[in-house]
Amino acid sequence: MIQPVLAKAALLLVALAVLPQCRREAPPAAPPNGASPTAASAPEPNVDRIRLVVSGSMLGRLEPCGCAGGQLGGLPRRMQHLGEQRQYDLLVEGGDLVAGASELDLQKAFTALSVLFGMQHPYDALGVGPRDLQLPREEWTSYASMATLVTTDLRSTAADWPGVPFVEKVVRDQRVRLLSFTTSLPADESKASAPLELLAPAAAWQRGLEGAAATTLRVLLLHTGDVAARRIVTELAPKPDLVLCFDPAYTDPPAHPELVDGVPFVFPGIRGRNLVLVTLARLPSGPRVGTEVVPLAGSRTVPGGGGDPDVKQALLQHRQQVKQDGVLGKMANLRATANGHDYVGTARCGTCHPSALAAWQQSRHAAAWQTLVKAEADPKRYGWPVTAYPDCVGCHVVGYGERTGFLGMDHTPDLAAVGCESCHGAGSAHANGGGLVPMGKVGGGQASVLCTTCHDYEQSPDFLYGDRWPKIQHGREAHQQKR
Ligand code: HEC
Ligand code: HEC
Ligand code: HEC
Ligand code: HEC
Repeated sequence: MIQPVLAKAALLLVALAVLPQCRREAPPAAPPNGASPTAASAPEPNVDRIRLVVSGSMLGRLEPCGCAGGQLGGLPRRMQHLGEQRQYDLLVEGGDLVAGASELDLQKAFTALSVLFGMQHPYDALGVGPRDLQLPREEWTSYASMATLVTTDLRSTAADWPGVPFVEKVVRDQRVRLLSFTTSLPADESKASAPLELLAPAAAWQRGLEGAAATTLRVLLLHTGDVAARRIVTELAPKPDLVLCFDPAYTDPPAHPELVDGVPFVFPGIRGRNLVLVTLARLPSGPRVGTEVVPLAGSRTVPGGGGDPDVKQALLQHRQQVKQDGVLGKMANLRATANGHDYVGTARCGTCHPSALAAWQQSRHAAAWQTLVKAEADPKRYGWPVTAYPDCVGCHVVGYGERTGFLGMDHTPDLAAVGCESCHGAGSAHANGGGLVPMGKVGGGQASVLCTTCHDYEQSPDFLYGDRWPKIQHGREAHQQKR
C-alpha cells in the first residue's frame, strides 16, 4: 500500500498514519503483474497526462460515524484535499451516492449533490449507479439541474429523462469523454410509468461514442462486479483507455491499476474512504494509466480534525434539517420484526433474567444511548443532533425501523441502548408465555455474525468475538434448566 514516491512529506505522514488500517482492510490487491508499465513510476518524457480524481461509491457515507478512531473518508476531508491539491483536470463521482430510497437517503442525495456540484470544486460528472435509480423518478429533473448525470446504457421514453449519454471535456487540447454503464435496473422498473430500458454494452458504447474523434480519450465508468466488468470490456470496440469499476466488493482501492485485455482497470472502492488520483495518456503502444491512492484520514470526527469548513457547514445544515423534518419518526415503525413478535423492552426481560440484566447493566451496551446524548452535547466531537439522526440511532437502540421498535426517548425509553432484544430478537411471545416459548438461537446460531452487523469494519475494525464476548458474558439463571 505504500506509495513508492510521495511528493509531499505531509502526505507521507498521512499515509503512514493509516497504514495498519489499510493493510488490514485491503482486498487482495491486484498484483502489479505485467501491468506495471502502466504504473506511475515510469513517467514518459513529453507526455501530457490528464489528471482525473475519483473516489468510490459513497453509499450514503457523507462522513464517517466516528465510532472508532482512524476512520477514513467523508465529504469535508475530500473537498479540503481537492482545495489544497488543485492538481486535477477532471472530477468524477462514481454514483450510488446513497444505498436506498428512504426519507434520509433523499436528503442525503440532495446534500451530496450540492456539495459535489455546487461548491468550490464542482465535479464534472456523476456516473449513475443502479442504487441511484431507486431514488424517486420525480426528483430526477431537480438532480439534473444540480449535476451532470451520465447514463450511457439507459434509454427512456420519458421526455424529461435527464440522463446524458456522455460528457466530453477538453483538457489542454486533449479531448476526454466520460461514459457510464449503470448495467442493471431496479427489480420493479417495469412498473414505472416510463420504464428505463437497458442497452447492451456494445450498443451503449457505440451510442456514447457517437461523433467522438479517434484521438479522444475514452473513460468508462462501470457499475458492476469485477467479473462481469471484465467480460463487458471484451465486447467493446474501440477499446476504452480507462475503466473505473465500481465493484462494491473492493472496500479500498488496490495500489495499482490492473490490465484487463489491454485496458487499465481502476477499482475506486466504497464509502468515499479514499481519493484515487489517476493520470491518463494514450501512447502509440496503448493507454498509460497511473494511480495514487490517498486515504482520507483524520482524527475521530473532531470538528477541528480536518475538513473544508463550508462543506462541514452544509452537512450541519443537512443534519439540522433531518431533525427539523422529524425524519427519525418517519423512518421508525416501518418494517415487520424479523420474527413477527413485538418488542417488550429490556426491563421486562430482566424480571425473569436478573443476572443477565445485571451483566448487561455493567456492559457498554447499556450506555449506547447515553453515548449518543453525550456526543450530541460535545461540540469537540459532534455537537450536532445525533439523537435525531437515523443512521446513528439505528445501531445504538433496539428495533429502530421495525414495528414496536424504538420510536424516541419520550415514547420508548426502555428500547433505548443496545438491549436484550437487539441480539435476541423481539420477545413478546417468550415473555408473555412465561419463558416457555423459546427465544431461539442468537443470530440463528451465529452470534459473531450478528455482532458484526453493528461491529463492522468501520465501527470496530479489530472486532474478534472471542475477545468481546467475555466482556458481555451472561446466560440463564440457575433455575432455568435447559430442557
Ligand atoms: C445493535 C447493534 C449491536 C450489536 C448487534 C452488538 N453490539 Fe456491541 N456495541 C454496540 C454499540 C453501539 C456499542 C458502543 C456502546 C457505547 O460505548 O456507547 C457496543 C459496544 C460493545 C462492547 C464494548 C466495547 C469494548 O470492547 O469494550 C462490547 C464488548 C461489545 N459491544 C460486544 C458485542 C458482542 C460480543 C456482540 C455480539 C454478541 C455485540 N456486541 C453485538 C452495538 C451492538
Ligand atoms: C453500524 C452500526 C453503527 C452505526 C451506524 C453507528 N454506530 Fe456508533 N458505535 C457502534 C459500535 C459497534 C460501537 C462500539 C465500537 C467498539 O468499541 O468496538 C460504537 C461506538 C460509538 C461511540 C463511542 C466511541 C468511543 O469513543 O468510545 C460513539 C460516540 C458513537 N458510536 C457515536 C455514533 C454516531 C454519532 C453515529 C452516527 C453518525 C453512530 N455512532 C453510528 C455502532 C454504530
Ligand atoms: C450484544 C448481544 C446480546 C445482548 C445485548 C444480550 N444478549 Fe443474551 N446472549 C447473547 C449471546 C451471543 C448469547 C449466547 C452465547 C453463547 O454462545 O453461549 C446469549 C445468551 C443468553 C442466554 C442463555 C441462552 C441459552 O440458550 O442458554 C440468556 C438467558 C440471555 N442471553 C438473556 C439475555 C437478556 C435477558 C439480555 C438483556 C438483559 C441479554 N441476553 C442481552 C447476546 C446478547
Ligand atoms: C416470565 C419470565 C420470563 C421473561 C419475561 C423472559 N424470559 Fe427468557 N426465559 C425464561 C425461562 C423460564 C427460560 C427457560 C426456558 C426453558 O429453556 O425452558 C428462559 C429462557 C430464555 C433464553 C434461552 C432459551 C431460549 O428460549 O432461547 C433466552 C435467550 C431468553 N430467555 C431471553 C429472554 C429475553 C431476551 C427476554 C425479554 C424479551 C426474556 N427472556 C424474557 C423466562 C422469561
